[in-house]
This record gives sequence, C-alpha cells and structure tokens, in this order.
Amino acid sequence: MKKTISLLCTGILMSSLFAQNNLPQLGKDNINKIVAAMTLEEKARLVVGIGGDTWKNPASGEKTVLVPGAAGCTYKISRLGITPAVLPDGPAGLRINPNREGDSKKYYCTAFPTATALASTWNASLVEEVGKAMGNEVLEYGADVLLSPAINLQRNPLCGRNFEYYSEDPLLIGKLSAAMINGIQSNGVGTSLKHFVANNIETNRRTVNEVISQRALRELYLRGFEIAVKEAQPWTIMSSYNRLNGSYTSQNYDLITTVLRKEWNFKGMVMTDWDGGDDAVAQMKAGNDLIMPGNRQVKELLTALKSKTIDEKTLDENIARILDFIIKTPHFKQYNFSNNPDLKAHTQVAAKAAEEAMILLKNDNKTLPFAKIKKVALFGKNSYSAFITGGTGSGEVNFEKSISIAEAFQNAGFTITADLQKTYQRFIDTVVANSKQKNKKFAVDFHGEMPTDENFIKADVKNNDIAVVTIARNAGEGSDRKVADFSLSDTEKDLIKQVSKIYHEAGKKVIVVLNIGGVIATADWRDDVDAIVLAWQTGMEGANALVKILKGDVNPSGKLAQSFPLTYADVPSANNFPGEPKENIVNAYYNEGIYVGYRYYETFKKPTAYEFGYGLSYTVFQYSDIKLSSSTFSDKITVSVNVKNTGKIAGKETVQLYIAAPQTEIEKPVEELKGFAKTKLLQPNESEQLTFTLDAKLLASYWSGTSAWITDKGEYEVLIGASSKDIRQKASFQVPETITVEKTNPVLYQNRLLKELSQRDK
Ligand code: BGC
Repeated sequence: MKKTISLLCTGILMSSLFAQNNLPQLGKDNINKIVAAMTLEEKARLVVGIGGDTWKNPASGEKTVLVPGAAGCTYKISRLGITPAVLPDGPAGLRINPNREGDSKKYYCTAFPTATALASTWNASLVEEVGKAMGNEVLEYGADVLLSPAINLQRNPLCGRNFEYYSEDPLLIGKLSAAMINGIQSNGVGTSLKHFVANNIETNRRTVNEVISQRALRELYLRGFEIAVKEAQPWTIMSSYNRLNGSYTSQNYDLITTVLRKEWNFKGMVMTDWDGGDDAVAQMKAGNDLIMPGNRQVKELLTALKSKTIDEKTLDENIARILDFIIKTPHFKQYNFSNNPDLKAHTQVAAKAAEEAMILLKNDNKTLPFAKIKKVALFGKNSYSAFITGGTGSGEVNFEKSISIAEAFQNAGFTITADLQKTYQRFIDTVVANSKQKNKKFAVDFHGEMPTDENFIKADVKNNDIAVVTIARNAGEGSDRKVADFSLSDTEKDLIKQVSKIYHEAGKKVIVVLNIGGVIATADWRDDVDAIVLAWQTGMEGANALVKILKGDVNPSGKLAQSFPLTYADVPSANNFPGEPKENIVNAYYNEGIYVGYRYYETFKKPTAYEFGYGLSYTVFQYSDIKLSSSTFSDKITVSVNVKNTGKIAGKETVQLYIAAPQTEIEKPVEELKGFAKTKLLQPNESEQLTFTLDAKLLASYWSGTSAWITDKGEYEVLIGASSKDIRQKASFQVPETITVEKTNPVLYQNRLLKELSQRDK
C-alpha cells in the first residue's frame, strides 16, 4: 500500500512538473497528441506489458510492486501521465497474493463457484451478482482488470480447463458471460474476455493448430464471444495461445480486426495470453494491441519500425486503443482503494451461487432430502480433506478458508463416524507427507482413492443412518485430463459397490457426492446408489451449500450445462482429441463440426447418462399454456409458457427453449437452445409465466458458401423443455421466406482437410 501510494504521489508530482513543460497529459489532452509526443522507444514499450506484479523501470532499474500476486501490468510513462494498469486473474475470483512483505494483514479474496458451476445455475442475474462482488474485490484491492471470464466451448470433457469455462452451448455461454462482464464492470473495473478463440485443448496449447470449419467456428466457437461482446462490451479481450486454421489467433487480422472489431463492433483493447504467439509485428498488424508480458518484442518492434516492416501508424492505432483503455482504469483515476472489500457480504453471494449451482442427478425413492438422518458414514478421502473449491492454475483464488464436507456435516449438527474420520485422516496425512508435488495443497486431490475392505465398511454400518461417498477430481491449465481420469478407478468403483452392498443389506441408503470440475463417467456405477449430487467445484462455500441441499434447507435447482455421456468413446470428438500425431500433437481436427455435445447426442440418437439441461428437484413442475405471439415469423416472435409448482416444496425451475429448424437447404442439429429462463422461488401451487423472444439471428444458421447467417423458410418447432430430452410443450410457426440475416466477411477458412460429420453419414 505504502509503495503504491508513493508511486501515485510520484506520478502526480511528475505529471504536474511535465505539464508545466507543456507536455501533453493523458486525460487532459487528445489521445492523438499523446501518441505524437511519444518516442519510438516509448511506443514499443507501451505495447509490451510487464509480467508478474512488479513494475521495473528498464532505464533506472526502479522496482515497484503494484498489487502483489497480479499476473501483469502495463507500462507507465510518467512524463505523459500514462499510468500502469494492473491485470490480475481470474475466472473464479480475484487472484492476488494474500501475504505481503512486512505486513501481517492478509489480503484474501472470495473463491466463488467455477464457471462450470455458475453455468449450472442458468441464472443470469445471479451470475451478474457474482460478477459485481468479484469486481468489487478487484477495485478495492487496487487492480484494474480481472482476466476473466474464460468462455471457450466445452468441446470435449477432457479439456484440462473446462472448469474455468461455462458450457457446451454457445447461447448459454454468451448470455451468462455477458452477465458476468456487466457485473464486474459495473464497479468501474475491466474484464478480459478470454481465450479468443478455440482454446479447447491444453495439450501443446501454445502451438496446437485447431482446424475448424467456418460454420462450426461461427455457430459454436465464436458465437459465445459474439454475444458477450455485443451485450457487454468487455474492456479487453485476450487472444488465445493456439493457432486457428494455420495462424496464431493473436496474429490473425481476420479474426481480431475483421470479425471482432469490424463485424461485431468491439471497442476495446486486445491483449495476448501470457507469452502467446511468436511474431510481435504480426500481432500489432492483426490488431492485437498489447503483448503480455514481453521483453524481446520491444527490440523486435523497434527494428521493424526502423526498417519500415511495420508502419508507425499501425502501432499508433494499437497505442490509441491502449490509452483509451488506461483512461478508464481506477489507477488512472487515482481511485483511493480500501484494501478492505466486504468479504463477509461476498461470501454470502458465493454461498447463494453454490446453492443454485449444485445438481441433483439421481434421487430414487426420495432418498433426499434427509429425513430423520442424524448419523452419517462418510467415505472417500475428499470427504475429509478440504472441499475442492476450484481447479488449479491461473484460475485459483487465495481465500481464507474452506471447510471439508465432514466439517460441514458436523457444523450442521450431524454426527460423523470417528473411526472412519481417523482412518481417512491418517491416509491424507501420509499422502501429503509423501507428496513430491510443489504445492501440497492439491496432493490429496490428485492422489488415488484409499483402498478399503468389507470389514472396514461393515464396522460402523449399525451406528449410521446413511452413507455418503465423495468422488473428487481436480484439473488445471497446461494439460488435459486422461480417459482414466474421466472413468472412476477400480478402487473408487469398488468403494461405491461395497458401501452400497453393505448399507443396502442393512436397509440404509447410499448417496454419492461429486466434487468435480468436469464431466466424468457415471453410467457404470450409478445403479448401485440411491442418490447422486453433483456438487461441482463450488467455491469456498461449497461444502456448506452441499449439506444444505442434502438436508433440504435448499431445494436443488441446478441443471447440466454440458452432457454426461455414457462412455468417453461416445463423445463426438473422442477419436480426434487432443490431436495428431498422438505423441506430440500439431493439429487438432474438429471433424465433428457443428455436432458438439447435445447437438450430436440428440441428432445422432446417442443415449447419454445425463443429458444437457438435466437436473432434478425436490418438487414437481408442470408446464402449460404455450403461446406464440404469431404463427408466422416476420422479425420477432415471443413465446410464453406457464410453469407451476405442483409439488409440496418451494423450488426454482430452469426452463429451456429449443428450436427444431427445417432441414431444407442445409442440415441442422435436430434441436438447438435458443432461450432459457429461471423461475423465481415458486411456492407449492404457485405459477409463473415465462416469456422468450426469438429474432431472426437466433433462428439462423451460418452458410459457409455465401458467408452469411441465413434463416431458412419453413416450419420451426418450438420445444419447451425441462431438459434437452424432457420436452414438455410444443408449438410451431412458419418462416414464409428465407431471410439473409447478416452478411459476413468470407474469412477464417480451414487450412486443412476435415472429414466433417454429417447426418448423411447416419
Ligand atoms: C492463462 C491465462 C491467464 C494468464 C495470466 C495464462 O497462462 O492461459 O488464462 O490469464 O496466464 O495468468
């Protein structure tokens, strides 16, 4: 804090001194004037950011820590009043260092549910509330931009970063991330929507070439970004590490300038991912304004400016966008941050989001909510080690504490079996002691399950009312999960089988809790158990939220934002993930084209374990009275439907609107999500009418041949469902004439041959 204050004071002093010398000052003078006053070296330095939290002056060697633990900052030029902007991660909350040298105060942040968990709420206003709280921590800890949200499409369950991403559906991704951006930015701090685009693979993420057809790109991988940009205008966008159809995304003019800026009207600044790409000149020319973090690029750019391989005007445009951004930052505005955000209030927001994110996957014979349960037998190592709040890597958050599931049970007044606790605790202690991992925090998460035997399980069956088995997974950036991680290990399956057998023989029920970040196998063990709760990685309040759901204090209302396939082999990209050649991948062929997730499973009639949009409740909802504003489409149609809670417990329902479009000119998935809404908490017998608006763009498909979004003429079926399979109400309307909704530029061609999946191959 002291250092920051002194930095600010020096900045103010310097700028007033220079102002006296009649130098233009950022904020007072026109940006063009500032750019004109910059030396070539200053220009080259401003477009190259600094990594980590420490500002180093290249000439004097001066060092200043801005916000400890931030991922980077921009260059400052005091003589022109250009302040640095501080850029910390990440998607589940502000990631800064809680410890500061010579300071006993802790600078903790709130760990919110991961993006995957937030998507399961299907609740845009709740996501916006989370964003508001996150953004407030950014502001009050003295930072400027949160490197978030991350919205790559969950193409394959094994992507190591899926937990940071929202969904397999671009509409859900777009709407929820727009809400997140609006929430964060309402604090007067920025976001960096990332990773633009198609960072769907972590293996060789810095070089892999993703080969994607124009149609799949436009309809799936770009679409979420398009919605978020148009509905929320993030201050910045982060280009991705990967290549797309032959060129690094950060060096792709068509992507960053033609599509993002010209077609979508993006007004902000684009930065690279950390050390992304390999050609600074190409990055500047593409419109990737800021290279994060860099060093060698300064020289590269100076050489290019001197040899005229880059026009100074191009760099000036990059700089103008960076300055436009800097002017908006709290640092520039000298915001007097408190270093004291209201963490208590934010914990409440995290708790609310966690409660809405959890999904009830199975609940035979009303196993849940608990009735007369007092004593719980807890199995699985992760019942006793800290609840996994989120994944590893830049998406981690340094929060004060999270409790284990065991502690959450105890805090809620349940008795847990002391013997089980002791045995598991011994196992955990040994795992941690023997771990060779740098960060022991995750040792238990990445370690195999503790083997058990019949006698161990039998020992306490008499004394307990129910058994709860926790299955956990963790993952993080830089590598993908393996098929073995998708499947349950033999030890885990054995544990579930044995516990189920023994507890069922004793007339007691068994619940599995999934404390996981991404999709896993469920089909080969789910029949053994009575109930399954998908708790996800729901932040620091996850364990408490889970117990509230089990007890029935909260009625679960989360629904899947991604499909759970029967087996990994059923995933449409299973054969080409991560890419080729297998030993060191260079290319990733998106041969499944537009058939990702439910678009594939439903169209190709592949059964899933749990389908997209699925999630149970403790109550029952009845859908009725679907009404369309017209039976013929002109430019908009509204759809309304009535939802009534016909059960005995208050609850919220997520209603989904799918469209089955006519398969006249080009093929289409049999259904696609085109709207969603969540009811308020409906009391028994209470109803709510939900309305959805459909416009031509929502109905359109992307035609590569004509580079346009086109809505085919014909009959459109409106399917209102409780999931992608559980369709409750139907209606239809006609589009009398084919509509060319939007002409786009014929860009982003695939650079290698794809054997795209087609319904003709069925
Ligand atoms: C990640 C980004 C992150 C950046 C800064 C990169 O490795 O891919 O998501 O924002 O590091 O920490």
